[in-house]
Amino acid sequence: MKRDIAQLGAKVLRQTATSVEDVGSIDTSQLIEDLRSSLASTQGVGLAAPQIGISKQLIVVASRPTSRYPKAPFMEPTIMINPRFINRSDAKEKDWEGCLSIPGIRALVPRYVNISVQYTNEQGLHVELELDGFIARVFQHEYDHLIGKVFLDRVESNIDLFSETEYLKLIEVAV
Ligand code: NI
Repeated sequence: MKRDIAQLGAKVLRQTATSVEDVGSIDTSQLIEDLRSSLASTQGVGLAAPQIGISKQLIVVASRPTSRYPKAPFMEPTIMINPRFINRSDAKEKDWEGCLSIPGIRALVPRYVNISVQYTNEQGLHVELELDGFIARVFQHEYDHLIGKVFLDRVESNIDLFSETEYLKLIEVAV
């Protein structure tokens, strides 16, 4: 079922999410279904369970070109349960991010360029993956939601904050 997206200021966005212990349960399947359908009706490229009001360590990463991220690479929507970092590159780079919980705002956010991660998939299997570029960025953004952080917390300077309107003008010029 499609759920409302929690908006900045909601307590659930500032809590540390608890790990999912019952991967095959009906509750977890329902949460996965809700997360998928809530994301599907948006132009977002990822969503974390706290954003639909559930403080559990579960995210979906679904990079695809949309009006919000026209240059995003395509990736099958991937459910990641109890995601963790295994490794992070030394290098970071800044690029644009937004968040369905913070409409109207975009910012340049520094993120690790290359990461390796692990998680449990929907079938309960342990998965390890190396991610880079935009998909690594989406993972880091969604992971932050599990530790009570939002992208604004990672911005280095207020100068890197843009309104959605100005951001859209900028990428139109760039495309
Ligand atoms: Ni977000």
